[in-house]
Amino acid sequence: MNRAIAFDIYGTLIDTDGVLTVLSEQVGEKAPAICALWRNKQLEYSFRRGLMQDYQDFSICTRDALLFACQTHDVKLDAQAQRRVLGSYAELPAFADVAAGLGQLVDAGVPLHAFSNGSRAAVTGLLQRAGLSGFFQQVVSVEDVQSFKPDPKVYAHLAQQCALPASQIWLVSSNPFDVLGAAHSGLRAAWLQRDLGAVFDPWGIEPPITLHSLLGLADHLPQDPL
Ligand code: LAC
Repeated sequence: MNRAIAFDIYGTLIDTDGVLTVLSEQVGEKAPAICALWRNKQLEYSFRRGLMQDYQDFSICTRDALLFACQTHDVKLDAQAQRRVLGSYAELPAFADVAAGLGQLVDAGVPLHAFSNGSRAAVTGLLQRAGLSGFFQQVVSVEDVQSFKPDPKVYAHLAQQCALPASQIWLVSSNPFDVLGAAHSGLRAAWLQRDLGAVFDPWGIEPPITLHSLLGLADHLPQDPL
């Protein structure tokens, strides 16, 4: 079948706010603010490392961003607390619609691929713990090309791993920068607007498709070129 769908992982299939419980135990009511800054900084650090061509495992961006967010909010995590919070990042839950939505696509015969800034080991572990690994043909990680989204290299690598032209792959992501990166590299892209208040970056193009759930995704994607 000449088509495939790739899914972003963090924030799209896996809920990064899942750290809030453990984070709240450590930092109390500052947890939501720290969590939001943590995620933003984590992505910023990945962009910066990509631009500087100074690749490190995504978990390094995650760790350093946590330290930055805590320092900004005047919170000190000792080594044990840090381990506990970062450990919870390896066990994040899936969003509620994910298993059913992916199941519908697999039943419809669409090959699915996981595609992430996370290392293959980290993403494989997350998907296993969330009971999702059986839906995917493979985990494609940016680690193979030592860069981060939205470097065109990583989308080219995805296409190569799917053995399809970019134009025959849909990327589904809740991250506008990922949707834009994929579209820039010739993929089809759908924006999963997990947060109704989220704004799509003004970038001169609109996402071809905006979704609010993975349920019924197969009906939303145009048949051509799928
Ligand atoms: C990922 C980040 C961008 O999973 O959410 O690639």
